[in-house]
Amino acid sequence: MEFKTIIEPFKIKSVEPIHMSTEEQRAGYMANAHYNPFLLQSREVIIDFLTDSGTSAMSSEQWAGIMRGDESYAGAVSWERLQHEIQGLTGYPHILPTHQGRAAEHILYSYLGGAGKVFISNTHFDTTRANIEFNGAMAIDIPAPEARDRNSDYPFKGNIDTRMLDEHIRNYGAENIGAVILTVTNNSGGGQPVSMQNAKDAAAICKKYGVLFIIDCCRIAENSYFIRHFEPEYSNVPYREIAQQMFSLADGAIMSAKKDALVNMGGFLALKNAELAEACMGLLIINEGFSTYGGLSGRDMEAIAIGLKEVFDEGYLNYRIKSTRYLGEHIKAKGVPVLYPIGGHAVYVNAGMLYPHIPVDQYPGQALVCELYRIGGIRAVEIGSVMFGKYDDNRKLIPAPIELVRLAIPRRVYTQSHIDYTVEVFDEIVKNAANTKGLRITKEPKFLRHFTAHFEPIG
Ligand code: F0G
Repeated sequence: MEFKTIIEPFKIKSVEPIHMSTEEQRAGYMANAHYNPFLLQSREVIIDFLTDSGTSAMSSEQWAGIMRGDESYAGAVSWERLQHEIQGLTGYPHILPTHQGRAAEHILYSYLGGAGKVFISNTHFDTTRANIEFNGAMAIDIPAPEARDRNSDYPFKGNIDTRMLDEHIRNYGAENIGAVILTVTNNSGGGQPVSMQNAKDAAAICKKYGVLFIIDCCRIAENSYFIRHFEPEYSNVPYREIAQQMFSLADGAIMSAKKDALVNMGGFLALKNAELAEACMGLLIINEGFSTYGGLSGRDMEAIAIGLKEVFDEGYLNYRIKSTRYLGEHIKAKGVPVLYPIGGHAVYVNAGMLYPHIPVDQYPGQALVCELYRIGGIRAVEIGSVMFGKYDDNRKLIPAPIELVRLAIPRRVYTQSHIDYTVEVFDEIVKNAANTKGLRITKEPKFLRHFTAHFEPIG
């Protein structure tokens, strides 16, 4: 018998108080933060959906592992455990520990990249793109065409466009391709999953041209859920085995352990090829630390090794994806336009459609982020023209293709009642939609303005 109510498959052993606030207090906090939620203090937030990265709750086993952490500089037992776990999961022999995902990206893509090189992905995450472009190479996104159809419920909108992949490799020349990067799930593409068939097809193309194929695997456990439930041949395959099969298609993987390894800090680079691993090892030692700890303390390595096992637990993954979907489906039912189907780690609201009366240069996504905070103390992030907008020569805004707001759900942190509360907050959001006003930017830095820009409400 399957019950409707989603229950958390864990008990709570340690709690962290949430500082409750009134709407009036929040109005003051938001004005102090210049209407930019990145500038709020966390104690001013009731529910924090800013990111699912580094915000997981660790299990009692992981905390026990923290005590076991071996802090030896070289050859720590904790390193042996982590290496063993990652080798078992990925099948790759060479493991390089880093302090987070972007450090692994920096090492691999600065080695493979440089002027004249081209990287191709379903969608590069912004740190991935930055690490590639910083070294003078080019990063091309080719999401599958199904992703463009907003109304379809195609389950694998995170796929890479394999026809374009073949074409691009031929046009740019295989020798100029730094790597093909498959990001699972596709975070910047709406958190949508990638099918095993698509990974197989991309792998076959890379093999045909002798191009390196890398998986950005920071949410691979969540991706495995979708493969099992939407690709019939995998319906009886355990989640971990699905991930193993996907790794077996590629030449290496990069992981931000802050997501599906259920820890607050950490990452790694895992590679098949010994020569490439040796070159990267040199950069690891210069930038991060010795090869048996990289950017991590022994206790971090213990927690990651345990988290990588726990994340494939059936009960956990079923609850995780269903809870995210519950939030998305329920606000959709209230008429809130969301990216559909709902992905694994976040719900993406289309603020441009929710507030059609707010012009893009008055930032509908920022308006929604401010409303969520004012009404419910919920912190979310704008992924629209504040984050990706640019100016032309006359300082006219070139808007982002879509005005999104991401509600990213930390793992094992909030209960189903927090989710129900969020659904209820959206009642008010919808009720106030027609009267919600936009904002103007009063101060902004040159780069990555979304983190520190100041705003003021219009009217
Ligand atoms: N790749 C993907 C797909 C990511 O989502 C992230 C981080 C990274 C790489 C970089 O990892 O933060 O450990 O250096 N995403 C976070 C987010 C920041 O909020 O989506 P990192």
